[in-house]
Amino acid sequence: MNRPKEESSRMQKIVSLCKRRGFLFQSSEIYGGLNGFWDYGPLGVELKRNVKDVWWRDMVQGHNDLDVLEGAPGAYEMTGLDCTIIMHPQVWKCSGHYDMFHDHMVDCRETNKRYRYDQVSGRWLECKGERIFVSTNAEAEEQEAETQRKAMKFFKIRNKDLDKLHWDGGFVCLTSIDNFERVLGPDAKKLDTLTQPREFNLMFKTFVGALSGEEGTAFLRPETAQGIFVNFKNVVDSTRVKIPFGIAQVGKSFRNEITPRNFTFRSREFEQMEIEFFCNPDASHKWYQYWRDRRMQWYVDLGLDGERLQLREHHTEELSHYSTGTADIEYAFPFLNEGEYGELEGIAHRGDFDLRSHMEGKLDPNTDPLELQLGEDGKPVWKGSGRDLQYRDEVTNKKFTPHVIEPSAGADRATLAFLCEAFTEDEAPDENGKMQTRIVMKFHPRIAPIKAAVFPLVKKDGMPEIAKKIYLELKQHMPVFYDEKGAVGRRYRRQDEVGTPYCITVDGQSLEDGTVTIRDRDTLDQWRVKVEDCAADIMRRIN
Ligand code: GAP
Repeated sequence: MNRPKEESSRMQKIVSLCKRRGFLFQSSEIYGGLNGFWDYGPLGVELKRNVKDVWWRDMVQGHNDLDVLEGAPGAYEMTGLDCTIIMHPQVWKCSGHYDMFHDHMVDCRETNKRYRYDQVSGRWLECKGERIFVSTNAEAEEQEAETQRKAMKFFKIRNKDLDKLHWDGGFVCLTSIDNFERVLGPDAKKLDTLTQPREFNLMFKTFVGALSGEEGTAFLRPETAQGIFVNFKNVVDSTRVKIPFGIAQVGKSFRNEITPRNFTFRSREFEQMEIEFFCNPDASHKWYQYWRDRRMQWYVDLGLDGERLQLREHHTEELSHYSTGTADIEYAFPFLNEGEYGELEGIAHRGDFDLRSHMEGKLDPNTDPLELQLGEDGKPVWKGSGRDLQYRDEVTNKKFTPHVIEPSAGADRATLAFLCEAFTEDEAPDENGKMQTRIVMKFHPRIAPIKAAVFPLVKKDGMPEIAKKIYLELKQHMPVFYDEKGAVGRRYRRQDEVGTPYCITVDGQSLEDGTVTIRDRDTLDQWRVKVEDCAADIMRRIN
């Protein structure tokens, strides 16, 4: 089903607000930009930093390891790591990324353009006695117009003769087409120019030191998870953590996506927030269920609620045999077609696949029970570290390889979802009491880039002095903005548009009784507090 027009215009408004108010810019924009790379502007950096900090605070620093949390099979500990982006190349061979981390691409022999196989779609068409498949890799809202434009060009049809184009069915993915002879490629003028699909490894290559060629080749990490697995023993040996426990990491990951798209949703450089949770195999399914629900609730608590957010369990036939569950937390981004959802986070039961692969060598994920993948010579395809990554239970004195539950989230995707959810158009009275349309970003106060703004009603009579005092006091605790320019109504609007939850105004009454007004961004309610209580009032509300 196509995307409704209002969703498409909503997305355009979000993209334009992001640029206009300094949330997101295209990377290297003055040189025409670089596809799949994005820069966070002055407000965007605060927003994304808050998303990561709130995640770290809720999952790691603020975790209560003394009590059994609601829904958890028992008490557990949490700790963190910050690993390098470039790691020993053997890590990626044993993890399977070197052999298996690829997408399929098709090339166009006419234009030399490259497309991700599963991102080309199209529809069948009959015209002038010919039946062809008109394909496109345009984003959802442009597909219909794009294929029509291409078909008109191909058959030399004018606007007045559009009824000569007989479309047969809706859009289907190129992956469902067996033979490309009747396919008109996304940018081609002729039929049958697409090659058969081929594998394309998504890892970025680089060279370490002065060595070039295979010897010096290394990779930019495509996920933060492997840094955690290879440090498992270091963490166990250097701390007093006991199973069950989780290791968290936030950091950059890189994937050479064939077709980055949908704003920051599919980027080539992005940040992940991952937890590898190590537990006893007997309890692993219960831990999986706990983490799935816990992570879903985290998004709900930060304001992603209602029909746009969903938890989708993978069907049993989609799971690796060593896994008893995988679920995706998904959000209906406004750039998707109606009924479609995009992944925010995956929660996977990974069994002992990763720790064993780093001990023994790359395992064959299709074997049951898991066995080493052997080459034609009968030797392991990729040798493991040979280090003992098992865990000894202090009570039973038994050794075992822990099972892993992996909640793996994207910081950029979460930030994008919070931006989309926050974007609201409503009506509010201007300074003359007349109702006007306003754009308001209804961020949860914990992630709002600016927590409060302070205004003197006028730039005289001692009001700026009081306002500056409040501003400087608040600034010690949170990002806060001072503004004395223009009509106060317009100052409110500017703050609404960037999602500042509270505005504090110093006015005539402040000079008489030492109180100021605080205005709530969403309800527009206003109340008065004493100047000396103002900071405490704001702090109580934003935490
Ligand atoms: N360690 C498991 C892992 O990396 P994944 O599903 O490939 O799993 C986890 O990635 C999360 O990372 C995704 O749910 C998404 O939020 C984010 N992510 C993955 N690829 C991305 C991309 N190209 N651009 C932005 N975020 C991405």
